[in-house]
Amino acid sequence: MPSPDMAPRRANLRCRLAGADAPSSRGIRNRRAGLAAAFGAALALAAAAGANPDQATELPEGPGLGVEAAAEEVAEWDISIQPNGEGLPPGSGTAVGGAGLYALHCLSCHGAEGKGQLNDALAGGHGTLDGPAPRKTVGSFWPYATTVFDYIRRAMPYQRPQSLSDDQVYALTAYLLFLNGIIGENDVMDARALPAVQMPNRDHFILAYPLPEDD
Ligand code: HEC
Repeated sequence: MPSPDMAPRRANLRCRLAGADAPSSRGIRNRRAGLAAAFGAALALAAAAGANPDQATELPEGPGLGVEAAAEEVAEWDISIQPNGEGLPPGSGTAVGGAGLYALHCLSCHGAEGKGQLNDALAGGHGTLDGPAPRKTVGSFWPYATTVFDYIRRAMPYQRPQSLSDDQVYALTAYLLFLNGIIGENDVMDARALPAVQMPNRDHFILAYPLPEDD
């Protein structure tokens, strides 16, 4: 809550922005009085509604704002990909194709071959997770290759997310998997192949909440 003496200053600012004269402090007081009266009236209405249960059910359904989202609009937002590959779009790509795209769109932030820059290392760190200096990268840590596709398509390049085509994302995903020694440079990644990729750390996660044992 702003302190009481802040409120007039904010009101002044709004008026200056709108090009109008600042209101007198009296104007502000009057408006406050008006608000208080409206609030009082609302309370009175609520009390009346409470007194008569029939009236309470006659409230309007809602303010009538907005329109129902069309199926196509929902589909545009619904881009999540499940670990098993559900939701992966058509398209394909290889690491060979992804290398050029990486140089163009990713290298400046993530470094040559996915390391050596300020932002997250995307490759390496294999075999370090249970040592004193674990290095978590897409390759050493992430359990599902499908998440790599989802993440890149959803969030990268950082300054222009969702600007790449599905083919480009498949190729970049393939390139990162190749940099991590997980697939070959000519292996074609698509909706069928990507879920079948076995990530090195896939089976080393511990469930925080163990599944209930069968009786
Ligand atoms: C302008 C800098 C920038 C560019 C360009 C960029 N990234 Fe990133 N990337 C980031 C930052 C920052 C993060 C960490 C974001 C976070 O943790 O919220 C990140 C995170 C990631 C991660 C997740 C890493 C992890 O271990 O959590 C992946 C995968 C990734 N980027 C891939 C890419 C790819 C592929 C491209 C090129 C298409 C790309 N990035 C371009 C800055 C960038």
